[in-house]
Amino acid sequence: MKARPGIAGVGCAVPSRILTNADLEKLVDTSDEWITARTGIKERRILREDEDPAELGIAAARGAIEHAGLDPTEIDFLITATNVPEMLVPGSSPFICEGLKIKKEIPFFDLIAGCTGFVYALKVAADLVSAGSYENVLVVGLEALSRFTDWQDRSTCVLFGDGAGAVVVRKMPPGRGILASCLAADSSKWSLLRIDAGGVKTPASVQTVERRQHYLKMAGSEVFKSAVQMMEETTEKALKEAQLTKYEIDWVVPHQANLRIITALAKRLDIPMEKVIVNIDRYANTSTASIPIALREAVDDGRIQPGDVVVLSAFGAGVTYGSIVLRW
Ligand code: UT7
Repeated sequence: MKARPGIAGVGCAVPSRILTNADLEKLVDTSDEWITARTGIKERRILREDEDPAELGIAAARGAIEHAGLDPTEIDFLITATNVPEMLVPGSSPFICEGLKIKKEIPFFDLIAGCTGFVYALKVAADLVSAGSYENVLVVGLEALSRFTDWQDRSTCVLFGDGAGAVVVRKMPPGRGILASCLAADSSKWSLLRIDAGGVKTPASVQTVERRQHYLKMAGSEVFKSAVQMMEETTEKALKEAQLTKYEIDWVVPHQANLRIITALAKRLDIPMEKVIVNIDRYANTSTASIPIALREAVDDGRIQPGDVVVLSAFGAGVTYGSIVLRW
């Protein structure tokens, strides 16, 4: 049996500051009842103004490296999946690399693929390992969306939280590792989720700040309508490639965007919710960090065991979507 690349270690980190639905009731015209019923979210973690998001990425990465039984000096490639980098130039990766004190000459890059960024980066990392180019690839999902949240817009400010998750991808013992994947996208839907200004199309100016164009905007119900179908489609394609049926799935670790989306996906896949990892109630939508945070919790509490068939599935801005099937 051939050795496949897989997740050898997983780590996560979230800010200590908790923002509850009750706190949000004081900021915008919303209610704990609405947020809970429509999203499943009860609270989220938000960085304080003086906290550096890169520190979260570094802590999550350290956890993953330790979990894999490796030393930071053994990492030979870093991919950081994020929507909102530390700095537009040079992104987030150099700060994580520096903070980890891994060898300074290793290659790194940031990958932008919306909330699907972690799934995309995991596939890229697995391909780098498969090709034999690199041995231990670190993938970090780092998100500080609170820094781009309009705290006057109730349709978005209740949805997101800050956090980081990381995995080390390397060749696994025979039988374990990534069995199949399916990545997809639909560029016609790019406008559903966006930050209008601050890029080269609309550079920052006094007017863009006055028009609040630096905040995240979302056509939530449009995203909602496509999300379930997109995750179902890529999960079924990946399962087919892995020559497995949906009844052989032990765990689904979905992107944590909305509990209603997650339960609808489980229903479409005919999988009981007991087999679905959910923590959106405590962290809200942490974008590229949501899957590795959920994964680490489920490994720590003993739900996910070696040999289990695990499906990771996400969707996000772009729009991008994708699923990965692996044997833990
Ligand atoms: O990671 C990918 C990123 N994006 C997502 O995953 C988002 C996917 N979409 C969603 O999760 C849901 O569409 C939302 C949670 C964003 C919204 O739920 P919905 O059931 O699609 O609600 P809606 O947007 O259709 O709004 C229903 C009503 C509206 O009022 P009217 O027009 O019916 O009077 C909104 O103004 O709910 C109102 N509303 C709120 N009310 C209280 C919207 N946000 C809030 C709020 N509190 N925070």
